[in-house]
Amino acid sequence: MGSLRIRAKIDSRKKEQDEPEHRLKNKGLFGLCIEMLLVLSGLFSFTIPKQTMPFPVKPVQHSRLESVDFNNLPFGRVFSDHMFVADFDGRQWTNAGIEPYAPLMLDPSSAVIHYGQSIFEGLKAYRSESGSILLFRPIENWKRMCNSAIRLNMPEIPRDIFMDGLQELVKRDAKWVPPGEGNSLYIRPVYFATDPVIGVHPSEQYKFLILTCPSGPYYSHDLKVRIEKTYSRASRSGTGYAKAAGNYAGALYPTQLAKAAGYDQVIWTDAATNTKVEESGTMNLMFVIDGVLVTPSLSASKLAGVTRDSVIEIARYWGMPVEERDVYVSEVVEALRNGKLTEAFGTGTAANIATISVIAEEGVDYTVPPVDASSFSTRASLFLNNLKSGGEDDPFGWITKL
Ligand SMILES: Cc1ncc(COP(=O)(O)O)c(C=O)c1O
Repeated sequence: MGSLRIRAKIDSRKKEQDEPEHRLKNKGLFGLCIEMLLVLSGLFSFTIPKQTMPFPVKPVQHSRLESVDFNNLPFGRVFSDHMFVADFDGRQWTNAGIEPYAPLMLDPSSAVIHYGQSIFEGLKAYRSESGSILLFRPIENWKRMCNSAIRLNMPEIPRDIFMDGLQELVKRDAKWVPPGEGNSLYIRPVYFATDPVIGVHPSEQYKFLILTCPSGPYYSHDLKVRIEKTYSRASRSGTGYAKAAGNYAGALYPTQLAKAAGYDQVIWTDAATNTKVEESGTMNLMFVIDGVLVTPSLSASKLAGVTRDSVIEIARYWGMPVEERDVYVSEVVEALRNGKLTEAFGTGTAANIATISVIAEEGVDYTVPPVDASSFSTRASLFLNNLKSGGEDDPFGWITKL
């Protein structure tokens, strides 16, 4: 399990980087005052927003905000006024700043176009009832992006560039964070190779962007999914745990075949034996079997979802037994047949929790029992939604208030 060892190493590196940073260190009297205020804020339990790195801003001349129909937002097609941009020039990060959202100038020989050295992230900003803007566990997206970068031989993104760039951008386009239940501002960090050179090599130059799109509620009908045994999303030592653009390209064709056969998504199985379930479409996969929350353990072939981790934490917080382990296709089918499988669902930033109502295997459609208000997935979905929009106490410390 060489790949898992590599992963463990990467994770421990990230842990070190995750130590609290004293951004205000060496900032003189002003910094000391702010630090004292922060200590006092802890004592009197009110929050002072963390100071972020200021970036140069080229503001738009005319905002497009007025022209947007917030009641009709097709996902991923409407972009807010600004984007965050930073370049890696082969030695250091440069040109970091906020500018109007606009097409890029890209050399036709750019490495990303030819060799796919490109990774991305996805998270959301929510507007609370009191009007403040909340981010859900954004640090996890930074850590995952660094893990993805290492796997694709790209320089890691400094925490300040990712976290402060993201927060400054969302603050700048704060009016684009739509109010209302289920609405959010989808945030898409993307990072790719820009060396203008044909020939397979790790690029020296890179571009990092953060785009944002206001999005409406994610109305998902229950999903019909098919267990996929012909095509694989990721191999045991491949790039599955990275949010690499190429992983998504490779998934399009098998997903299209499943759709043509009447299903919404596939359930990916392990590439070596096709006997173990891994993920469903672009979501992590969970079951409730005999009252236990069962989910495939993380490995080099699965994306470590932030929602997955959150749902597991919530289950444990509620005292529900959780098993992260190999989950065999045969046991899922058996549990569907004997009624022990009571819930199946996918977890991800877009849908939060998406209920699965049908699982097809070897040409047979198995029906998952319908969920109700007392089902774990219904309660967890409600809890997560409330937490993200500030309507729930945050016992985990997951919310960043801007
Ligand atoms: C392949 C894959 N698995 C799982 C997930 C869920 O991850 P998260 O909960 O962090 O959105 C995603 C979405 O990012 C994904 O693309």
